[in-house]
Amino acid sequence: MTKPITGFSKLTKAEKIDWIANEYTKHPEATKKILSDYWNTDAQLQKLHDEFIENTISNFYLPLGIAPNFLINGKLLSIPMVIEESSVVAAASKAAKFWLERGGFKTTIIGTEKIGQVHFMYSGDLPKLQGFFKTVHSKLINEASSITKNMEKRGGGITKIELRDKTDKLKNYYQLHCTFETMDAMGANFINSCLEQFATTFKKEAQNYALFSDKEKNIEVVMSILSNYTPNCLVKAEVSCPIEDLNLHNKVSPKEFAQKMVRAIAIAKSEPHRAVTHNKGIMNGVDAVVLATGNDFRAIEAGVHAYASKDGSYSSLTHATLENGVFKFWIEIPLALGTIGGLTNLHPLVKLAFEILQKPSAKELMQIVAVAGLAQNFGAVSSLVTTGIQEGHMKMHLLNILNQLGATEKEKEAIINHFKNNTVSHSAVLEAYENLKK
Ligand code: MEV
Repeated sequence: MTKPITGFSKLTKAEKIDWIANEYTKHPEATKKILSDYWNTDAQLQKLHDEFIENTISNFYLPLGIAPNFLINGKLLSIPMVIEESSVVAAASKAAKFWLERGGFKTTIIGTEKIGQVHFMYSGDLPKLQGFFKTVHSKLINEASSITKNMEKRGGGITKIELRDKTDKLKNYYQLHCTFETMDAMGANFINSCLEQFATTFKKEAQNYALFSDKEKNIEVVMSILSNYTPNCLVKAEVSCPIEDLNLHNKVSPKEFAQKMVRAIAIAKSEPHRAVTHNKGIMNGVDAVVLATGNDFRAIEAGVHAYASKDGSYSSLTHATLENGVFKFWIEIPLALGTIGGLTNLHPLVKLAFEILQKPSAKELMQIVAVAGLAQNFGAVSSLVTTGIQEGHMKMHLLNILNQLGATEKEKEAIINHFKNNTVSHSAVLEAYENLKK
């Protein structure tokens, strides 16, 4: 039985590896070899990666792929995507090519508002709290000026501080609900620093507010933190074309295809089980670009799914109409992204991703990511309503199966050839491989 360890973080990397290999793996030497196989041979580069997080023992690779031919507002881009799932990059590339020949993607920024909150408890008279908030409002902003100075120079800063009464949800619970413009930064550190300063000022001033009773002076700040729900940091991406141009599939007419697409979206709008999978397909595209550009995919995921439930039931993030002979397909999605700060200036591959994307601003990145999500959804749903997803997916997955079997390059070539005209399944690949071996 393994014992708890104290001081793990103080051990050297080699000592950490020794400990984990000996305590938790059957073959410590093999463990050490795997871990070191994934180190970068450039010691400086490895050190950079080691220092991104704590207790690093190795690197965990994900493939970086490219989906070319994205025409976005008239600009042709190749999109870097980081993802482990086969088919995703191929589907994005196929959708990009399809829409390239039909006018490309059009995008609009609907808003860029970020949100943070100071959550506090106050037991007393509401009008008095409102009076106090009015007197302290300018002080909240002034005392945060050393934090906001640089952001203001770039055109951003605090946009609003509101007092919100939340006592219908929880006894004595109030908020300072604050909004910010963070320009090209995702803004988490900026927002959290502002909020912590607001909390300090608010508490201190409450102690000196003559109209408060002793009990009222004791405002308890529970926490100060940004919100990853950013419904007003919103972008729209859309494609449209005359129905007859939807000649995607030789067995389904353009009109039938358009109708099937609209119906599939209507199902995802009305049924949460389908909506979750539908949106998962969107996030295949979104997360892949978010990761490639060093942004926080957990924050994006949390905010996007909350947005998908904003009308009271979990629903599709994409929409489709078929009106006056025109098929329209669009997404509206909240994306709080940054192109400066965080990993963006540190990770060499993230820097390269930005270069490939022609150094976008945060607003431009929001548009690119929304397009990647829309393209992915178009690819997935158009397969689902025509051939089904497995045909394309298994073809892409074939190489993974062959690698698992340890096939040589020659064997892979022969089997890939065989499956050009045969249906791929795990057992069919196994059988073909065994036949080849005979
Ligand atoms: C698989 O990663 C994503 C899909 O399930 C999305 C969808 O069903 O729309 C194919």
